[in-house]
Amino acid sequence: MDFYDVVKKRRSYRVYKPDMPEKGKIERILEAVRLAPTWANLQGLSLVLVQKTENVKAIWSAIDQDQKFSSAPMFIVGVISEGESGTNKSGEKYYGVDFGICFEHLILAATAEGLATCWIGWFDEVKIKRILNIPKKYKVMGLTPLGYPIKPKGEVKERKPIDEIVHYEKF
Ligand SMILES: Cc1cc2nc3c(=O)[nH]c(=O)nc-3n(C[C@H](O)[C@H](O)[C@H](O)COP(=O)(O)O)c2cc1C
Repeated sequence: MDFYDVVKKRRSYRVYKPDMPEKGKIERILEAVRLAPTWANLQGLSLVLVQKTENVKAIWSAIDQDQKFSSAPMFIVGVISEGESGTNKSGEKYYGVDFGICFEHLILAATAEGLATCWIGWFDEVKIKRILNIPKKYKVMGLTPLGYPIKPKGEVKERKPIDEIVHYEKF
């Protein structure tokens, strides 16, 4: 799929078919994450693939957003080691940026494979770390269901017009 078609096609899906995504598709998505750029190429990101029914249910309950995502056949949980990234000149930590780039590679690659996702940023981090045995140094920054959507979304979400977000030469 052409890159711009992928960008236009991506949507957040909250209801899924029970089918597990194919291994080949998952492998290509993971490769897209592996190739993502990070601060000084430090690559602090790790992913946990959750496919066993009991673990999928446990993750869903740690998300705790009512029935949303309850039909997801699997989740991918993204974590990053805070120390394995940089700090910019203003003293701000950049691990969140590294995470966002890597995770969006995942989301767009999944779209290119005809799969559905949804960035999830609202969850109980303590519960997720306990369920998945995630070491202390990692922060759980986001997760997504991965699967086939019940029905493709037709509508495009409203976005600000270009002239509201783009400035030329000066802000
Ligand atoms: C960092 C981030 C965190 C998000 N967290 C949640 C979430 O916890 N629950 C949820 O239902 N959607 C979540 N979303 C999805 C957004 O609501 C969605 O991307 C936005 O409304 C635009 O819709 P679209 O993705 O279909 O274009 C999140 C998106 C991002 C980028």
